[in-house]
Amino acid sequence: MIIVGSDHTGVALKKDIIEYLKEKKIDYFDATNYENQDSDDYPDIAVTVCNKVLEDSNNLGIAICGTGIGISIACNKIKGIRAADCVNEQMAELSKRHNNCNVLCLGARLEFSEKFDNVEKVINSFINSFYEKGRHERRLVKIENIEKMQNKGGK
Ligand code: RB5
Repeated sequence: MIIVGSDHTGVALKKDIIEYLKEKKIDYFDATNYENQDSDDYPDIAVTVCNKVLEDSNNLGIAICGTGIGISIACNKIKGIRAADCVNEQMAELSKRHNNCNVLCLGARLEFSEKFDNVEKVINSFINSFYEKGRHERRLVKIENIEKMQNKGGK
């Protein structure tokens, strides 16, 4: 299932994405199914989306803020989340193939998302690309080790 959520800047983009997912008969869950307020800050939305993503290893998230940057920073603080802010198909594809990303971050205020066609391409690329394992596995284990280190207080 695709878990979708946005801060106050991305409500319109989120609605377009939901329409698109419905049209393509892709299972989705709207984690922020309300008209956003200015107080709906991206760190809170990141937690809401990521907690839902982590409920099932088959889930993927689409988390939206103005640039995709703030929400990707917040998502990546959550253990088990690998989030990537992508503005083209290649980034979305490689974020899956190499980094096994489980959250795609999008920027609603970027030029890139003014054309929904661009957003569609990035979403398709993210959904239809798969983790290659192999040489990437060692690096992802190192990321898990960073998470473990932080649980112990980190540095
Ligand atoms: C909110 O105004 C804006 O800062 C946020 O959506 C995002 O762009 C942060 O990275």
